[in-house]
Amino acid sequence: MKNNLSMIPLLLTKNWNLAVKIASSLFRIGKARYLLKRNFGFDHFKNLALVYFKPTGACNLRCKTCGQYGDKGVMNDCAAEENKKILPLETWKKFVDEIAPQKPTIYVWGGEPFLYPDLFPLCKYMVDKGLLISVNTNGTFMEKHAEQIVRDKWGTIFVSLDAFREVNDDLRGKGVYDKVIAGFKAIDREKKKQKAKYPMLGMVTVVSNKNYMDLANLSEASREYNIDLHVYNLGTYTNDNIVATQKQFMKEKLDTDIDCLESYNTGYNLGIDGKKLHVILKDIQEKNFGHTILTVPTLNPEKTHTYYAELETPVRNHCVVPWCQLNVDYNGNVHFCADYPDYIIGNITQQSAKEIYNGERANKFRKALNESEGGMFPGCLRCYQNMLFGRKIKGF
Ligand SMILES: C[S@@+](CC[C@H](N)C(=O)[O-])C[C@H]1O[C@@H](n2cnc3c(N)ncnc32)[C@H](O)[C@@H]1O
Ligand code: SF4
Repeated sequence: MKNNLSMIPLLLTKNWNLAVKIASSLFRIGKARYLLKRNFGFDHFKNLALVYFKPTGACNLRCKTCGQYGDKGVMNDCAAEENKKILPLETWKKFVDEIAPQKPTIYVWGGEPFLYPDLFPLCKYMVDKGLLISVNTNGTFMEKHAEQIVRDKWGTIFVSLDAFREVNDDLRGKGVYDKVIAGFKAIDREKKKQKAKYPMLGMVTVVSNKNYMDLANLSEASREYNIDLHVYNLGTYTNDNIVATQKQFMKEKLDTDIDCLESYNTGYNLGIDGKKLHVILKDIQEKNFGHTILTVPTLNPEKTHTYYAELETPVRNHCVVPWCQLNVDYNGNVHFCADYPDYIIGNITQQSAKEIYNGERANKFRKALNESEGGMFPGCLRCYQNMLFGRKIKGF
């Protein structure tokens, strides 16, 4: 299967400027591998390549596999209280000013980012500063805002779509499929009308036991969506044993109680026939749909079965996240791990970005990670960030 860099040549032909910015971030993420042993007394901030913004934790959907609102979502019991805690635009702008000199790629997600009331001014502020922004959305607000998205020159949009109408809407909610398709069409229409190159349009499909048998047909249909990139996210899954081990580990090493990993213990990996999925993904990769196809992680197709059926077998290790990335939540809390906001390294309302990134809690985390077997905590076996940028284990 193709690796992350395989998208660059096609992007170069479509949008040179965007391809260069993405390549620059990937280069710094690659460089992070050589910084892994450095903890205290080193300016890690210089290598900040990717910053996740979660301006809101609120969401209009309740997707079944989601770590926040899914069957075991961490937000299910506390959303009403938590979603009152969003930060004002000025706080985010100040934070942007602090990180902009490092020229990181910005990944705006949520919750559903369109529910943050100042999403447009925030994104415009970052685009005007020359930052590459990617917005990850469920796509349900895209049609309504297509004109402004194109006018404001957002770099890329990654839209979640898991399947055709029946299965997608079973997983994500009634009417979602039609809204997403209408959104794709609206963006395409606006790009033509405004003669614009931006945004690059990506589709993200989370592979589960509910949709994997129909992925080939979805790929065929995607020819019509005029997308630039289709990411097959092989999905974040875990099990009771991994959760228990990680709980104990985080308590002992970092004195932290964790809640988030359990939210991916959903069982939507169970029963996936790795051999069949391998054939499906291989066929998809071999076809030319006019857009780039990526799987995350890029996996030796013969190991597809292992990915879903043997969750305790690592496929990536030596996580680089704390040496090149960070995630800021809706309440200003900063974490390394976007999907597991348990260990807080600071808060942007109280400290500068650089203080947080080079601070004691950040370095304690780096040290614990460096000292762990394979440079990875026991709970991170299928973590999306590690799947994207961790070191490939031989054979996988
Ligand atoms: C939590 S959502 C937030 C952004 C937005 N609300 C959306 O759905 O695109 C971020 C991404 O996680 C994906 N996702 C949902 N369940 C997942 C799982 N179990 N493993 C990996 N990614 C998952 C979503 O499809 C989406 O692409
Ligand atoms: S739209 Fe995104 S954040 Fe909302 S429930 Fe679905 S995956 Fe989770």
